[in-house]
Amino acid sequence: MSDVCNVALLGQKFMGRAHSNAYLKAAKFFNLPKLPVMHTIVGMDLIALAPFADRWGWKNYSTTWKDVVKNPEIHLVDVSTPNYMHAEQALAALAAGKHVACEKPMAHTLKDARAMRNAAVKSRRSRTFVWYNYRRCPAVALAHKLVKAGRLGRIYHVRAAYLQSWGGPETPLVWRFQKKYAGSGAHGDLNAHIVDMARFITGQEIVEVTGAIAETFVPERPLPGASGRGGIGAGGPARTRKGKSDVDDCVLFLARFAGGAVGSFEATRLATGNQNHNTIEINGEHGALKFGFEDMNLLWFYDAREERQTAGWRRIMCTSAGEHPYAGAWWPDAHILGYEHTFVNMVADMMAVLAGQEPIVPLPDFADAYETQRVLEAALLAARHRAAVKLSEIK
Ligand SMILES: NC(=O)c1ccc[n+]([C@@H]2O[C@H](COP(=O)([O-])OP(=O)(O)OC[C@H]3O[C@@H](n4cnc5c(N)ncnc54)[C@H](O)[C@@H]3O)[C@@H](O)[C@H]2O)c1
Repeated sequence: MSDVCNVALLGQKFMGRAHSNAYLKAAKFFNLPKLPVMHTIVGMDLIALAPFADRWGWKNYSTTWKDVVKNPEIHLVDVSTPNYMHAEQALAALAAGKHVACEKPMAHTLKDARAMRNAAVKSRRSRTFVWYNYRRCPAVALAHKLVKAGRLGRIYHVRAAYLQSWGGPETPLVWRFQKKYAGSGAHGDLNAHIVDMARFITGQEIVEVTGAIAETFVPERPLPGASGRGGIGAGGPARTRKGKSDVDDCVLFLARFAGGAVGSFEATRLATGNQNHNTIEINGEHGALKFGFEDMNLLWFYDAREERQTAGWRRIMCTSAGEHPYAGAWWPDAHILGYEHTFVNMVADMMAVLAGQEPIVPLPDFADAYETQRVLEAALLAARHRAAVKLSEIK
């Protein structure tokens, strides 16, 4: 492979914009060993495709992903479509010898995720990545480093919640509320992120889900209008006719980690008052960490080995070049980063890996993301059967 990476991006809406921006910016801010080239954008909405390609700088556009993933000019296929399409598109791309970056959750069923994992393991040429982009907040990456350096000692508690509120009864029945397209609701959408963050920061696997609740508060939703306008819950003006929502609106579960820690996870789209409240707190024998995405530049650290008189939560602004992961590529101290930077940071890391170099922060591949998928499955089973589920039961 040359020092360029021709990218085909499948999906042109919410993640289509986030990923396009990342491919556009990565080489402007990072010295990349391999340059992402925005070769082809793929979507279903032909009328919107040409202006999208023009606006973001894609050289070509197409509505036929099956042809695009076989194009010999393409090196990396980026799957940013609804969850039910991930496996088919990723497997076709792997079969064509491409590298694959896939959005989370890895797939809408464990079976599909397993097929993706197996195909990735079998493939000699292809590298795989899953867009667990919150790992690439400098504060989350620092949390991972601090735990690895032993600053927390033995971990007792992991407390993670991802709370949103856009899923009220007026929100139309977009694909995110239909099991055949999404697999699950808030669970695969939001718990997926915090399970990945918990595994990443602690470096420990979850070995048991001891109990779970899954609830669908809004079983019927208005059918979406014909003209979608993108965004999480958008589907254009809603109609008066309703359809069935067969996914969870929230899933809460308790878990045990391999190192003996206990954890709680909560994901919901109906946490009124919370918009994108993605938080994790970890309490250990020597210290503790707190992160909240709505203040994503900050990591809170408590050092339990400091003198009691002056000990307290330390507010770390994770923007210092040379000290904080990725910060050196961006702006001076406390000239803060946002959501889009996590995607740009991820593209920089993917290009490093494709050039045979180490990423700044470890990237989840299909085998790694499959472990998160197994935890999600265990939680759904625990909720359905009102019973504990050991991860060893989930193959
Ligand atoms: N990492 C994150 O923070 C994050 C945030 C939001 C969504 N996501 C994930 O990204 C994926 C896409 O979500 P979104 O919010 O962008 O959805 P969206 O509804 O905004 O966009 C989906 C896109 O996929 C296209 N599409 C649908 N079926 C297709 C097909 N068969 N072939 C080609 N294109 C097709 C649609 O035309 C549209 O452009 C989902 O898996 C979602 O879970 C991740």
